Amino acid sequence: MSVLRTELCDLLGIPHPILQGGMGPYKTEDLAIAVSNAGALGVISTIGMAATLLPEAAPVDAKRMFGDDPPLVLLQKSIEAVTKATRSSRAIFGVNVPVASEFLIASQMFVKQVIEAREADSDTERQLRVIVTSAGNPKPWAKVKEHGLLWLHVVPSVYHAKKAESAGADVIIASGHEGGAHCAWDPVHSMVLVPAVARAVKTPVVAAGGFCDGASLAAALCLGAIGVQLGTRFIATKESDFQPVWKEAIIKREERQTLVARGLFGPMRFLRNNCAEKIVEQTLSDAPRFYLGDPVESNSAILKLEQQGFVDLMDGKEDTALMFGGEVTGRITDLPTVKQLVRSIIEEAASLLKTLPGNVLIR
Ligand SMILES: Cc1cc2nc3c(=O)[nH]c(=O)nc-3n(C[C@H](O)[C@H](O)[C@H](O)COP(=O)(O)O)c2cc1C
Repeated sequence: MSVLRTELCDLLGIPHPILQGGMGPYKTEDLAIAVSNAGALGVISTIGMAATLLPEAAPVDAKRMFGDDPPLVLLQKSIEAVTKATRSSRAIFGVNVPVASEFLIASQMFVKQVIEAREADSDTERQLRVIVTSAGNPKPWAKVKEHGLLWLHVVPSVYHAKKAESAGADVIIASGHEGGAHCAWDPVHSMVLVPAVARAVKTPVVAAGGFCDGASLAAALCLGAIGVQLGTRFIATKESDFQPVWKEAIIKREERQTLVARGLFGPMRFLRNNCAEKIVEQTLSDAPRFYLGDPVESNSAILKLEQQGFVDLMDGKEDTALMFGGEVTGRITDLPTVKQLVRSIIEEAASLLKTLPGNVLIR
């Protein structure tokens, strides 16, 4: 297999410059194991965070989705499972904690849990090296570095990238508007955002939103990033914890089949179906309240639809399932294993970067 090393590999101690995005509130335990064992960075998501800690803001019935365990126990179990399944390969993994102001207390509890899990087990300490914060103010989270963690923070703009840099983030993840799930109010896509952020800060930048293959990894490197973060692409893999209906929906959709409507905190990109169209209608009819940004109000569209029976992830029906996903869904047509996917991304990017100079006349 080709070697394509960037600064990201050296910083995190991983062979390939690819991160799996956190995808809460869903479980990404099997996915993180497969991704880390494939030499990229697997990331545990904060499972059921909103659902169990703020039941009134939950998109779906928490117990039905996540069982009886409280979210901190779910996180601990995932940390133990991923440590165990990656121990022999000594693979590195991370945990994502959204730090939106609505969830600050929960975020603090999750971060504390990560720190304590590392202190309690030497394998976890060696392998769980990364924390990825997102969706909020970076400032309070620099302290994670004092506990030996590498700190990555997700931003949607140059303004927020500068804030993350002055807070001391080790890596900034610039996340374009085409990405799946929560996105910023301003629709700035990766093609503009990534090079703008890479020029504005000295901190290394990872590109997120719209990346899925070797061509897009090579493009990200040309735009000034040191690697890519993939969300939607990793859902459609054999090992991912997501339901078959979700994986199939990603494979079937073309690039125009996503919609942005109200999410838990701010806007969110959904795979287009009857459910997503209804969330858009509800978002438009509640627009003034939505823009005020109250967490429970912001979420009421999803809640109302659930009460009316429109939203039901558990029934596995493609038209009523609530599924987040990015525009890159239109570029995803298969269901590889994670290992096949990572290998094909690296091979394609390496081959493109090697052959490109021969295809361009430079005087
Ligand atoms: C189902 C789903 C759930 C997500 N949940 C989170 C989350 O909890 N925290 C976070 O930082 N990003 C979350 N994201 C964003 C991803 O981490 C990643 O940045 C994004 O999917 C990249 O864009 P892409 O979908 O085009 O690859 C989520 C994305 C998806 C598709």
